[in-house]
Amino acid sequence: MELLSVDHMTKIFGGLVAVDDLSFTVERASIVGLIGPNGAGKTTVFNCITGNYRPEQGSVVFDGQNILGKHPHEIVELGIARTFQSIRLFSDLPSLENVLAGRHCRMHSGMLSCLFHTRGQKKEENAAVARCMEELAFVGLAHHWQDAAGSLSYGNQRLLEIARALATDPKLLILDEPAGGMNDHETRALVETILAIRKRGITILLIEHDMRLVMKICEKLVVLEHGSRIAEGDPVKVRQDPAVVEAYLGSASEEW
Ligand SMILES: Nc1ncnc2c1ncn2[C@@H]1O[C@H](COP(=O)(O)OP(=O)(O)O)[C@@H](O)[C@H]1O
Ligand SMILES: [Mg+2]
Repeated sequence: MELLSVDHMTKIFGGLVAVDDLSFTVERASIVGLIGPNGAGKTTVFNCITGNYRPEQGSVVFDGQNILGKHPHEIVELGIARTFQSIRLFSDLPSLENVLAGRHCRMHSGMLSCLFHTRGQKKEENAAVARCMEELAFVGLAHHWQDAAGSLSYGNQRLLEIARALATDPKLLILDEPAGGMNDHETRALVETILAIRKRGITILLIEHDMRLVMKICEKLVVLEHGSRIAEGDPVKVRQDPAVVEAYLGSASEEW
């Protein structure tokens, strides 16, 4: 049973067809990798799913509902959270505040209760702080809760983005190059974190160039080239697919 279904998605920038009639599905509680050379259209697909871009054609059905045309904040509320290829954090604010920014979408206190510091609001705030501390601990950053996000190492900033995304209570977590800029040690720890996220019942769709990571954790790969799907399925089979081998050899780097 799929959680996400992308059907015939097309996204055009000016004359450039960045995503070309793309269809794929993400099964519940699975880890799916979206791979392909630079410029293949991977991040654009993510932006179309999360409501940051509106595709010209196609549909995106999430948890039984067509989410095309919804605003990014509505899509977060429905249960899709993401991290970004280029890190987006409030770098001057403490790590905890960054995670709280994610939790905000699940809080109900209105302006009046905030102004007057009602008991209900205080209770909700305390619960949010406790929950966000749990997410920081989950990604291994509990001891950094007071540190400004910008002072963390690059790898830890990526983990902080994951903690912020988890604080939104996602059903689907979308990760855009989570291992980008990480060293081998950090990447190995990231693998454990991603597997632990899936154990919580959260479905994961990720873009990643590190093929070792992708082959280790993904149950399914979707391969994009020039905006089109050239392969989809079991990672071992996909890797041997002649079209994928050709696209892989044609790309400049050893890693995607
Ligand atoms: N906002 C945009 N405006 C114009 N062109 C864009 C925009 N975003 C992406 N593109 C173009 O779309 C293509 C796919 O980009 P992208 O989705 O970032 O690829 P990938 O993530 O696979 O490297 C590229 O040619 C890129 O230059
Ligand atoms: Mg990208």
